[in-house]
Amino acid sequence: MNKLALHGDLLDFEATPAWGDPALHGVRWRPDHWLLIEDGRIAGTLPGREPPGEDWRREEHSGRLLMPGFIDTHVHCPQLDVIASWSPGLLHWLDTYTFPAEQRFADPEVAAAGAGLFLDALLAHGTTSAVVFPTVHAASAEALFAAASARGMRLVAGKVLMDRGAPPALTDDVAGAERDCETLIARWHGQGRNAYAVTVRFAITSTPEQLAMAGRLLARHEGLYLQTHVAENRDEVAEVARLFPEARSYLDVYHRHGLLGPRSVLAHGIWLDDEDRRLLAATGAQIAFCPTSNLFLGSGLFDWQAAMAHGHKVSIATDVGGGTSLSMQRTLAEGYKVQALRGTQLTAWRALHAATRGAAEALGLGAEIGHFDVGATADVVAWDWAHGAAASHRDAVARGAVASLPAQDLHARVFAWMTLADERNVAAAWVAGVPRFERGRMLQNVDIGTALATRPDPRDPQHADGADVRSRHS
Ligand code: GUN
Ligand code: ZN
Repeated sequence: MNKLALHGDLLDFEATPAWGDPALHGVRWRPDHWLLIEDGRIAGTLPGREPPGEDWRREEHSGRLLMPGFIDTHVHCPQLDVIASWSPGLLHWLDTYTFPAEQRFADPEVAAAGAGLFLDALLAHGTTSAVVFPTVHAASAEALFAAASARGMRLVAGKVLMDRGAPPALTDDVAGAERDCETLIARWHGQGRNAYAVTVRFAITSTPEQLAMAGRLLARHEGLYLQTHVAENRDEVAEVARLFPEARSYLDVYHRHGLLGPRSVLAHGIWLDDEDRRLLAATGAQIAFCPTSNLFLGSGLFDWQAAMAHGHKVSIATDVGGGTSLSMQRTLAEGYKVQALRGTQLTAWRALHAATRGAAEALGLGAEIGHFDVGATADVVAWDWAHGAAASHRDAVARGAVASLPAQDLHARVFAWMTLADERNVAAAWVAGVPRFERGRMLQNVDIGTALATRPDPRDPQHADGADVRSRHS
């Protein structure tokens, strides 16, 4: 038996917190507790004053938050190459940066290095599970599944489908794509913690024949996911209407081809109408709200309240590289601001729930991830409450540690943490009870700084000898 006990302030959720309510409904707050992990699963908890016996390996994270690892429900592995690229909007951004960058992943070596870099970066940001787009190349999906398996991470992914509207080096064809999907499904779907997602990039880059093939795959194989983009940008919506004049709406294009169901994850969903929202609720599909991306690309303000009114599921995602950070805290903080612009306030509870238990349940993975229930897989992250002078002071105020200022309630403290924290606050991360990240050093495969430095720019004479780029900037 492998027995690990982590000591800290445990925060997770047992139910969905009510909208706009900072009270502790649904919140499970167990400060100064031991989290017991046996053979990679949560085995229970104990109060801090009752440490487990000598047969447990004890690890002290006193004064830190221990939370379930975050779940990013929409993110693009190859787009670390183009994150933070200047652009007037989605379609320009895709054509100018993203499609050229994704072509590199045709090379299995690039795909393997990119997958390792990406998953280690997720872990370094406190994200232990993700729904991921690689590229159109089967090798890129293969690399991602292999790299996730090496790290024991829960991954939902699949080769991107695109048979038009993209550079020739990034397009497939219906028959070849179907063969690649079948091979990848046989190799990876349900293997370890991997699940296959039929990955339609968006309606613009698939012919009706390819969408029909995607629908056939979903009907043929039990438990497959579907991931795509929908109604992100107004120019995109107009182009979809031009390409599919028979469809009632952008979402209806997917519905007509059998792509909507309880394991369908559609990113953005900004320019939907109420009939679309009813359809999402009826089919059980979810919208992945991507606030940093929607702000960065100027796409629009997602209407979460309308989603609630129609009863469809919502998760929160980074959408890197349209999104500007892999940090879920930064994503939640921007999500708060987007909702504020819509005239409503996202609580820390509702936001953090959406990034943990809420996402797990929306994906049908509520028995495995997103919380500290006994039997769940022990994907855990230890967070510092503050990093840097301003955040440290703000946290001291919330704790009542600043003279003449009264202590604030738990929501105020956690909300300030959520708003100010990022990957610098990650102290350590475990995947299925195995330590996979510790601040200052990667525990598996790739040091991020080194990986970024491995391919020097041949045009730069300083790099003629392959010198480490970090030394120049330090
Ligand atoms: N729509 C189609 N492809 C993409 C992509 O890579 N990123 C975003 N944000 N939207 C898309
Ligand atoms: Zn995306």
